[in-house]
Amino acid sequence: MRRLPAWALVLGGLLCAYAGAGAGAGAGPALQSYPHSAVLDGAGAYRMRWGRRGSALALRLEVRTRGYVGFGLSASGSMASADIVVGGVEGGQPYLQDYFTDENRVLKKDPQQDYHLEYAMENSTHTILAFSRELHTCDTNDKSITESTVRVIWAYHHKDMGEAGQNYHGSNRGTKSLRLLNPEREEVSSASLPYFDLTNKDVPVPDKDTTYWCQMFKIPVQHEKHHVTKPMEDHRDAEIHLQPVEEPMLEQVSWQDLSSCGGSMLEQVVPEGLHSVEE
Ligand SMILES: *[C@@H]1O[C@H](CO)[C@@H](O)[C@H](O)[C@H]1NC(C)=O
Repeated sequence: MRRLPAWALVLGGLLCAYAGAGAGAGAGPALQSYPHSAVLDGAGAYRMRWGRRGSALALRLEVRTRGYVGFGLSASGSMASADIVVGGVEGGQPYLQDYFTDENRVLKKDPQQDYHLEYAMENSTHTILAFSRELHTCDTNDKSITESTVRVIWAYHHKDMGEAGQNYHGSNRGTKSLRLLNPEREEVSSASLPYFDLTNKDVPVPDKDTTYWCQMFKIPVQHEKHHVTKPMEDHRDAEIHLQPVEEPMLEQVSWQDLSSCGGSMLEQVVPEGLHSVEE
């Protein structure tokens, strides 16, 4: 493949930035357009920044790869029945495609393209993509973005889409639960609030790609109305205690969810840990 000189990449970025909504000097929309930010993977290679822009959501992905970058929304957190966008810079040319997957995880190009590229850049280590989409696209192949917690799925590959094709083996990928429209406020002080721990007993972390561990707990009985202000969503701010504590194991525990249930469920025996394994 012919190598393009570095200035060709910069020019690609500039042209693209000017094609966007009045964006500034070659850097794409200013970082202030993305007030929220999260690292999606355990290795710090995939950063997502985002912000609401009227009836649309603006996203900026900064990923440590020169290959393709994938991002999606999925009800289950898996690659099946997901709304997916894939982009990158290949041979100096930015690309961004709206896809979806069926229940068998087969990737299909969405006939209605709802993700709009605003900026793309590649340097010697990273790919940066900025794009936007409407919260509600009226496309049955897309997921609506609502106030609720959504499961975002992420992926990246060392090759670009043209070269790697739709074979996603060899990609790094995962999932994270986020509230895109209503992110948790940082300033809530938790020092004086009562709290309780939910502790899994002796869960071995299996040497497998993905394990979902599901545990039910009875929470302490309260006699007045209370609100849970900080369910454990991210192992970086809610402490997960692993014994023995080993860093590689901590990296494997990527997300936690808390759901509530009540009524007759409370009368049933609480199972000691259900798990399902994928892949
Ligand atoms: C490439 O871009 C990323 C993301 O902006 C930045 O963190 C990194 O330092 C850049 N690398 C080089 C070699 O400029």
